[in-house]
Amino acid sequence: MWPPGTYRSVSPIKNSPEFSARLLAWHKRHGRHDLPWQNTRDAYRIWVAEIMLQQTQVAAVIPYYLRFIERFPDIAALAVASQDDVLRLWSGLGYYSRARNLQRAAQLVAERHCGVFPRALKDIEALPGIGRSTAAAVAAFAYGTRAAILDGNVKRVLARHFAVAGFPGDKRVENRLWQLAEEQLPPRAIGRYTQAIMDLGATLCTRARPACAECPLAQSCQALALGRVRDFPAPRPAKAVPTRATQMLLLVRAGELLLEKRPPSGIWGGLWSLPEIDDGTDATRHCRSHYGCSIGAPQRLAPLAHGFTHFKLQIQPLLCPVKKLAPTARAPGQIWLSLEEAHGAAIPVPVRKLIERLLASSKRDRLAHFHPS
Ligand code: ADE
Repeated sequence: MWPPGTYRSVSPIKNSPEFSARLLAWHKRHGRHDLPWQNTRDAYRIWVAEIMLQQTQVAAVIPYYLRFIERFPDIAALAVASQDDVLRLWSGLGYYSRARNLQRAAQLVAERHCGVFPRALKDIEALPGIGRSTAAAVAAFAYGTRAAILDGNVKRVLARHFAVAGFPGDKRVENRLWQLAEEQLPPRAIGRYTQAIMDLGATLCTRARPACAECPLAQSCQALALGRVRDFPAPRPAKAVPTRATQMLLLVRAGELLLEKRPPSGIWGGLWSLPEIDDGTDATRHCRSHYGCSIGAPQRLAPLAHGFTHFKLQIQPLLCPVKKLAPTARAPGQIWLSLEEAHGAAIPVPVRKLIERLLASSKRDRLAHFHPS
């Protein structure tokens, strides 16, 4: 980074040849040249690499890529393989729909294109799992097609260099970035340029620690000139999340707490949790009908909020002292545990917090008992 106070006046590149020329010169000396999917014009090998690299870093991809290409050296081998075999070689890379799409696409190439990977961008993009940017990358590397890519790294480079405001996931911002990506394309050396802009985003213009002092585009980078490199690209705007209210019942009997096993799927699937009732439901009646127990007056404890990705759970805990428990009341999926045992069980975070509160207050009560004020 340039030290504070040394921001230069903005001098954006007007003529795009300078942008690509600087990148190409930088890449010659500092770029990556010997990755296993480079130095080939085999569209199949390039395509497999681009798909693996979609959500995974280069270093993690290399061993998977080498094994995959050894087992499936061409489109025909991949098209006729069993899906189990394909998934086994993908196992550990994650995002398995990529592997399923890859094989489906190989089968479509066999059917529609006589087993030859298509050349036209529209035919490449029509294959499952290949979007506009990946199609352009494969065509640029394999055929030298003059098409722009716009993956996450390239979006960051362009958003910074041209100080493009807004979240790149917004259609309007994305369209502007596509336009800029196309405007910077050099007339020739498209494969090398594509690799260069990818490498710049991956090695220097990184999200968290941009190395602007080493960047070949520093002199024309508008974000750097403004001293606002970290403001670009803008993060995803925070969405207003809905709130759901619930009451959690702390049924306590002889120092033990009732926990219930949650259904295997959904939030907290398979964890032990506290019984819950909707806001407004009568706890005393519910305890009688559902747990066969009569309780003393429920005591409202301090509320607690818990954030999920898609909503906020507002929890009203109710302490329910159990006076009588019907002998038939125990049911599968229910368990009475001491507070210490419950605290050590597989329980959700807010339930753990509530149990910790109870443990702390029972300790205080015991101390008060020994040291009455
Ligand atoms: N990320 C996506 N495509 C890549 C490539 N061809 N080389 C390095 N990193 C990449």
